[in-house]
Amino acid sequence: MSDVLLLNGPNLGILGRREPEIYGTDTVQDIERAVGEEVAGRGWRVIARQHDCEGELIRTIQDSYDTVGAIINPGALMIAGWSLRDALANYPRPWMEVHLSNVWARESFRHESVLAPLASGVIVGLGALGYRLAARALVATVP
Ligand code: DQA
Repeated sequence: MSDVLLLNGPNLGILGRREPEIYGTDTVQDIERAVGEEVAGRGWRVIARQHDCEGELIRTIQDSYDTVGAIINPGALMIAGWSLRDALANYPRPWMEVHLSNVWARESFRHESVLAPLASGVIVGLGALGYRLAARALVATVP
């Protein structure tokens, strides 16, 4: 059976309790379940990880080259996570960058992603639905 990597970065482990007016009330477990539902039809399983530290995210990516693709919300590491960027540059499969909030409608320091140029697609501002849509995109595009 094939696996999809669902990777959430810093401060996303407290989703549901974190500024719900911005990030919504779904927890990471809710999101993991939703992604699992989306990919089940392809016979894929979800490997879900959340790390607050960049190094742990990098190690997870390095250990996941045999996954079919990935959905990644890097949190604020989108802005200057250069080591994470280098790890993703060597990830051999398609991956989608997801942000719950519309980062472009927020503070200007959130307007830069050093990761997005490497992503197969980027989804922002659609809340937890963004993860489902990213999963559907992988289902539709991974051969
Ligand atoms: C976020 C947006 C980032 O700017 C922020 O630092 C986060 C969450 C989002 O999902 O909207 O941690 O990635």
